[in-house]
Amino acid sequence: MRLDRLLTVEEVMRVAERRVPKMFFQYADSGAYTESSYRANSEDFGKIRLQQRVGVDISTRSLTTTILGRKVTMPLGLAPTGAAGMQSADGEIKAARAAEKFGIPFTLSTVSICSIEDVAAATTTPFWFQLYVRKDREFTGKLIDRAKAAGCGAIVVTMDCQHYGQRHKDVRNGLTVPLKFTPKFVAEMALKPRWALAMLGTRHRTFGNFSGHVPGATTVAQLAEWMGQQDDLTLNWTDLRWVKQRFGGPLVVKGILHPDDAHAAVDAGADAIIVSNHGGRQLDGAPSTIRVLPRIVDAVNGRCEIYLDSGVRSGHDMIKALALGARAVFIGRPFLYGLGAGGEAGVTRVLEIIRAETDSALGLMGVTDITRLGPANIESNDLLR
Ligand SMILES: Cc1cc2nc3c(=O)[nH]c(=O)nc-3n(C[C@H](O)[C@H](O)[C@H](O)COP(=O)(O)O)c2cc1C
Repeated sequence: MRLDRLLTVEEVMRVAERRVPKMFFQYADSGAYTESSYRANSEDFGKIRLQQRVGVDISTRSLTTTILGRKVTMPLGLAPTGAAGMQSADGEIKAARAAEKFGIPFTLSTVSICSIEDVAAATTTPFWFQLYVRKDREFTGKLIDRAKAAGCGAIVVTMDCQHYGQRHKDVRNGLTVPLKFTPKFVAEMALKPRWALAMLGTRHRTFGNFSGHVPGATTVAQLAEWMGQQDDLTLNWTDLRWVKQRFGGPLVVKGILHPDDAHAAVDAGADAIIVSNHGGRQLDGAPSTIRVLPRIVDAVNGRCEIYLDSGVRSGHDMIKALALGARAVFIGRPFLYGLGAGGEAGVTRVLEIIRAETDSALGLMGVTDITRLGPANIESNDLLR
């Protein structure tokens, strides 16, 4: 399978679907409950029209900008995704390497398969660490310390996932920790031998940031039980100051959909916020992120950087978010599909697709510098009011 024959993120996804066991492919390709917000994220991007402009010298075009003061080759990063190492063996390391070579940030999830230290050992530029604040604040504090010791460039605190929005596909597929080797799952693995062999060949098959760090939990079952009791429903704005102070570097607050929450995050010390509905995986019925972005941009009024995730599937989507005021976008599922389709090379392919789409669209819009995008580059649209 030649990855360069894949021309869209959708095509990459179809290959991943063939290569990754259904249970893990659908873990990525799912939203909460009716999946209405999952669908709305992409649908609303589709309703926005770009302004075509001609008669401009577009012979040189630039996609570079900065994110939190660091130069990036395009305004896009890889979002934190739990258990990326189940889409492809050592998935987090592969994705981090692809991002590093491409010159964009990678964000490691708290619930990754490869640990903070594993990813740090395999890369040379700082990656970001996403923090789920756990009930056990001592454990949480140590996670922050580990991210700091690994030289992480930012800590991303996710605020919209203190308890779960159910994804029916996971329940139906029997996705559990530890995995149950049911006859159905074993049969699935026989159909995906490349995936299964690679998984057998790695020692990274459990939650790397937890394994060996939870006193008294020596088996995966004990670890899973402990993890299952750790959702901290008390998480609130005051906790962010503690995280920021302990980490000592930039704080990014993820899961903002309301202007008042954007204000609260900035007041709590956020250097950046991510407008996100967790890819439609949490509050089913929440609005798409592109719909609420302009209100949040107005509310923040330049006091911190603003990124957007949820539903970005192309360079055109990225341009729309930037035109509406985001400094950068993040992608979750697209890079997971890349991992499933072709490991590190698959992630690189997804990034190449998005870069080529962006470069082409910018030219046709008569824009030579991506940082110059603004509301004038999209047609005014009722969707946004
Ligand atoms: C399979 C999967 C696992 C995820 N795990 C996490 C996680 O561990 N932490 C987190 O903050 N967000 C997590 N997210 C949400 C992503 O960071 C991001 O908000 C979302 O994927 C963006 O939407 P997109 O997939 O449409 O790009 C996850 C998303 C997916 C698809």
